Amino acid sequence: MVKACVCGAAGGIGQPLSLLLKLNPLVTELSLYDVVNALGVAADLSHIASPAQVTGYLPPDNGAEKALKDSDIVIIPAGVPRKPGMTRDDLFINAGICATLAQSIAKACPKAFILVISNPVNSTVPIFAEVLKKAGVYDPKRLLGVSHLDIVRASTFVASVVGKPADAAKYVVPVLGGHSGATILPLLSQSQPSIPSEILNDKEKRDALVNRIQFGGDEVVKAKDGAGSATLSMAQAGAEFAEYVLKAAFGGEKVRTVQAYIDLGADAGGAAVQKEIGADLSFFSVNIQLGPGGVEKILPVGDLDDSEKTLLEAAVKELGPSIEKGVSFQPAPP
Ligand code: NAD
Ligand code: LMR
Repeated sequence: MVKACVCGAAGGIGQPLSLLLKLNPLVTELSLYDVVNALGVAADLSHIASPAQVTGYLPPDNGAEKALKDSDIVIIPAGVPRKPGMTRDDLFINAGICATLAQSIAKACPKAFILVISNPVNSTVPIFAEVLKKAGVYDPKRLLGVSHLDIVRASTFVASVVGKPADAAKYVVPVLGGHSGATILPLLSQSQPSIPSEILNDKEKRDALVNRIQFGGDEVVKAKDGAGSATLSMAQAGAEFAEYVLKAAFGGEKVRTVQAYIDLGADAGGAAVQKEIGADLSFFSVNIQLGPGGVEKILPVGDLDDSEKTLLEAAVKELGPSIEKGVSFQPAPP
């Protein structure tokens, strides 16, 4: 029996994400929370013939806590998306929404896995951590910032550049760091299968590939021209990442290696990563092994080539202040 809750379920990401979760056989109860239209989305999805029983909740009568009650996994795409000309940092206006949801989670399902999609992820994940700490229920192994869309994009764009676009799913490219522009650190030298040296050693081609991975979000924001940011690709990436967590926690799957933006204090491996990156950042998207309790192990960054060392420097520089901004955010009391 697995209860999943989506907060922001009526939004551009929330609706297709909820659909994909409704189709996931590991989910038996699907709870949808939003400040608008959650009941409509729930009624609609509830007609699909799959195991998950769907219920919708709106804010009145403690709707958030009712929706979250005893959830095993909470996925959060609540909040405002970007419009052209905005940076993800401009979305710090979502800080209050995240803090309030974290307070509700602390009361209603303190042991849930928490998957944060709401931007700016570099700051919203530290906000969740601080609120949960204050409530005395913080488990860094269970708080996961979802950077998986960067990994999905890396697979797609690399496969396209090497001339094998149909093999996108076969390309595994670690993307570490954070989730915005220069903080996104694609490790092309670690791609499996490897990227041919004529691309890796061609500065122009390589820079273009890195740039596309780092600014893939902007590509969508521009194309949508004021109608929001990535929703469908994010829903797919979010559902895939949720499935990894669910399989590791409840599906009896052997340990799986993925990347997520997490608290480096979650495991002893975090200190080793801080040494590798030469910075004492408290949050970073790292290679992790997932297990029944969430983050089972933080794995090393591994070898970087010169080009990646330069990218790492820029990522660290930009990420530090975003983490600090999240940590020092003062939410309204619950
Ligand atoms: P959207 O506006 O379509 O949907 C957001 C939903 O959140 C709306 O339905 C809204 O009613 C709801 N909401 C607002 N306040 C809420 C609250 N207090 N509690 C519950 N629900 C609330 O936006 P979207 O396109 O779905 O994007 C949502 C967020 O996800 C944005 O911040 C966006 O930047 C972010 N995002 C992150 C990634 C990533 O890779 N992590 C990718 C794409 C988008
Ligand atoms: C993305 O990477 O698509 C998201 O973070 C949304 C955005 O604002 O670009």
